[in-house]
This record gives sequence, C-alpha cells and structure tokens, in this order.
Amino acid sequence: MQILGIESTCDETAAAVVADGVAVRGNVVASQIDLHQRYRGVVPEIASRTHIENILPVLRESLATSGVNLADVDAVAVAYRPGLIGSLLIGVTAAKTLAWALGKPLMGVDHVQAHLYSVRLETGVDVPMPAVGLVCSGGHTALYRLQDFLDVQLIGATIDDAVGEAYDKVAAILGLGYPGGPIIDRLAALGDGNAIHFPRSRMGRDSLDFSFSGLKTSVLYHVRGFKGRERDASSLSPQQLHDVCASFQAACVDVLIEKIKRALKQTHGRAVIIGGGVSANRGLRQAAQKLPVQVFFPPLAYCTDNAAMSAGLAYLHLRAGQQSSLDIDAIPFSQFVRA
Ligand code: KG4
Ligand code: ZN
Repeated sequence: MQILGIESTCDETAAAVVADGVAVRGNVVASQIDLHQRYRGVVPEIASRTHIENILPVLRESLATSGVNLADVDAVAVAYRPGLIGSLLIGVTAAKTLAWALGKPLMGVDHVQAHLYSVRLETGVDVPMPAVGLVCSGGHTALYRLQDFLDVQLIGATIDDAVGEAYDKVAAILGLGYPGGPIIDRLAALGDGNAIHFPRSRMGRDSLDFSFSGLKTSVLYHVRGFKGRERDASSLSPQQLHDVCASFQAACVDVLIEKIKRALKQTHGRAVIIGGGVSANRGLRQAAQKLPVQVFFPPLAYCTDNAAMSAGLAYLHLRAGQQSSLDIDAIPFSQFVRA
C-alpha cells in the first residue's frame, strides 16, 4: 500500500510516499528557516502564507522523485493536529482535495504520534511493548506510554518551554543562529559539560513533568549578569562559549534521561522511543545508550518535521480499519490529555 503523506504543522512544508508503512520514497521537506531566522522563531502568519506557496511544488517534487504516479497512490495522509492553525489548514486542505479528486481514502494523523512512529521508518523495526516514548522538539516535550503505536497515553509534559525551544532561546542569548539546537550541539562537543553547574529541574520525586524555563534564565544570568544586561555573549572566550553550550546540554540531557528512567519504572516499559527535532542531539543519543532497555531513535532524516512519519503512521490506522472523513478539521490542540 502506497500512502502519500503531507506535513504542514509548523514551518516545514513536506510530502513523501511511503510503502507499507516503512519504505520511504520522494521525501521532500521545504524548510522556511531562512524566513523565520531574523525573528529567532516561527512567525505563524509568515509560515501559513509560505505553506500556500510551497505545497504544490513540494507535492510535485515528491511524486516525481518517488517515481509514483498519483493514480498509484492508495491513500492520502496528513498531520491534522496539533500545530499552528494557519499552517495546519494548508496541508489539510491539500490532502482533502487530493483524496476527493482521486477517490482514495484520507487519513488524518496526530503529529506527535507520528514523531513516535518515525523510529520504524526505513527499517520497520519491531519495538518491544509497552514502551516509553519521549517526543522532544521545538514545540513539544512530553512522555508517553505506548501499548502499541496506535494506543498512546500521555504520562508527563513540560509545564513551560519545550526543550528545543530552550535550545533556540539559549542560542539567541549566546548570539548564535536559529535554529539553535544543531549549533549548540556542535559547540557542546568542544566544551566541558561540568564547567558550569546549571540547575536541573526534577519537579518532585516521582514527577514525569518537565520545566526548562529556569535553566534558560540561569544561562541568561551566567552570560549577561544578574540584571540580564551587564555584559553580553561577545565577552565570552571561545572556550567559555563552548563550556556554556556543553554545560547547558548536559543539564538538558540529564533531565531527559532521568525522566525516562522514572517513566520506565512507573510503566514497566520494555523499550524507549525518542523522536522529534531534539532526538538528533548527539549528547542525548550517547547518554540514552546507557538506559537499561533498548532505545530506538529515528534515522537522522526523520528527527525533524517530515511527511514520511505521517504516511507511515497512517498505514497502521488504515490497516486497523480506520479512515478520516473528508470534512475533518485542522485542530491546533493535542489529543493527548493526562489519564
Ligand atoms: O521536530 P521539529 O522539526 O519541530 C517541532 O515540532 O518543533 O524540531 C525542531 C527543534 C528546534 O527547536 C531545533 O533547535 C531542535 O529541534 N533541534 C535540536 C537538534 N536538531 C534540531 N536540538 C538539539 N540538538 C540537535 N542536534
Ligand atoms: Zn514536530
């Protein structure tokens, strides 16, 4: 079964064709980073307008490079929640139109659930269940208990910033570019993670929730002084800059790993799945190897937002006899609420 996937939840316009939930063809991602860079974050109105311009060229390129004709597409999948409403609307409208015109099934999928599914792309690996899932990106930092990829329960979430957001804000404080995650990750490798002890917010003994705003403020005070404007990042030597990056990364990774360990204990999880933009992080990938169960990361190409993960997850939904109606709405909120 060949499924055409569409993604437009935030600032990436993407399309891909995935066969039987695993084999990815024509994976195309049009990034809008250049447009949002000067604002150091995503501007929703610009994102939405740019999706309109990008969606048809991205779909055409995906089909052309996949070698799959529209007539051979068996279903159309789209991430319809959660995300920026103006962005979601473009992908959802494109998907509905295609499904209707082709007379093929439409499957709306949850973007966060698709990030979890991304670990199966290319390999089709079987993950022992129940598993603990961590989705960590610019918009999300949450823990899930998976009975399978369609049976997912929220067990913990950030109460303020997402971890990727903290990376992006710390990069801004340090005068580095946007998005900050990959840059800090690279500079962290050159520094000492024990140089500065930034706070780790553990949120109570058994809590599976996260908080990253205190850590971000602590980096701000360290770099700019307690009034936040006594000096700036230009006064740091290269070694000091690398040490701040490494120490900040060490604090993020420590907290993520600690919460995963707690979740494994509480859910009797047999495996760990880590997805979302921050799952590309080298420090996190290294630290996760020491967890007591098998850990699954997506191939690097599928850590950040993409459409292959949505097409892959849609295959499971359709195989389970589920299908969306042509009047599904884009929904900005997560479907996952605490049990
Ligand atoms: O999944 P994604 O593309 O979009 C959201 O759903 O948010 O994730 C983007 C986020 C950004 O905050 C970016 O800084 C972060 O993922 N990121 C990283 C790395 N690569 C991307 N954070 C830490 N280390 C990385 N290597
Ligand atoms: Zn995402």
